[in-house]
Amino acid sequence: MPLIPYALTRPFLFGLDAEHAHELTLGSIARLQNTPAQCLWAQTRVDDAVEVAGLRFPNRVGLAAGLDKNGRCIDGLGAMGFGFIEVGTVTPKGQPGNPKPRMFRLPQADALINRLGFNNEGLDAFIANVKRAHSFRAAGGKLGLNIGKNAATPIENAVDDYLIGLDGVFPHADYITVNISSPNTKNLRALQSDEALDALLAPLVERKGALEAQAKRRVPMFVKIAPDLDEAQVETIGLSLKKHGIDGVIATNTTIARDAVQGLPHADETGGLSGRPVFEASNRVIRLLRATLGAGYPIIGVGGVLDGASARAKLDAGADLVQIYTGLIYKGPALVPEAARALARR
Ligand SMILES: Cc1cc2nc3c(=O)[nH]c(=O)nc-3n(C[C@H](O)[C@H](O)[C@H](O)COP(=O)(O)O)c2cc1C
Repeated sequence: MPLIPYALTRPFLFGLDAEHAHELTLGSIARLQNTPAQCLWAQTRVDDAVEVAGLRFPNRVGLAAGLDKNGRCIDGLGAMGFGFIEVGTVTPKGQPGNPKPRMFRLPQADALINRLGFNNEGLDAFIANVKRAHSFRAAGGKLGLNIGKNAATPIENAVDDYLIGLDGVFPHADYITVNISSPNTKNLRALQSDEALDALLAPLVERKGALEAQAKRRVPMFVKIAPDLDEAQVETIGLSLKKHGIDGVIATNTTIARDAVQGLPHADETGGLSGRPVFEASNRVIRLLRATLGAGYPIIGVGGVLDGASARAKLDAGADLVQIYTGLIYKGPALVPEAARALARR
């Protein structure tokens, strides 16, 4: 049990603007991680080791990308009991993201809307942070590094940014995620279309092969996709990932749909909606991917995990591993062992 129950922290944090609460929390974790004060939120990790994409994950529950965009808090967040942590999205150059306010809570729906727009300090600062982290990986936790493109890079040159990201993160990653599904970077999601995906994945897979040969180490590469795709699009993407030898798929990112939150305060804010309203949409994509890809192809399910039952539903839909972001905001760190236990009992 962590020393501070989230029931006491949450009202204070929810009294602040969402992004301010986020920065305060991450700043505290960054300062206190790997010190005795980490016992304030540390929890015993549920032991449920599983092999996926050639990696041994200590349990099936991971932190989703975007909570720790600069990779500052890998050890502190890892201490909540995650089997894996994904940090980023990192872009080659640092960038400020969209104007504030750009993150909103919809508590009646256990949801968030964000239009951060890949605010981050850039690849060099990211890698320096990743290199500083030690205790999470020393304890067997797996680290995913998630790469994207700068807003100022024209979409025709997107591959250049992803190649820079790949070169930079490769030596430090247990796995790499290619994020082509944020709704907050103009035209990014167009990279999911068939020809654009081919043109992106072929050079990335080739470069990864060269890096692996040089380093004599395999690093799986996953592609993260959106929930707002029709059945044919999901099938086409799934087949393309397999054809190119991509090691797995992360489903899904946030949604641009708003039907599930109609009429709620902030529902009309532009951006990606996460949490409970994206749960079913993500599960649908996971089911379609599993049907297209067959047994054995790694799928990481993410979107609306808020308790043990919703985590288990991801596995029932066909996922091998599960990630959490918004659930952590609403339920606190106790959600991590709760979800991991629910998946271990399966
Ligand atoms: C505030 C916020 C920022 C996010 N930033 C990123 C990001 O930088 N890269 C990424 O791949 N996904 C990002 N995501 C998407 C999450 O990783 C996840 O796919 C999505 O929120 C659905 O999961 P959830 O319902 O558990 O939050 C972000 C989500 C939120 C709420």
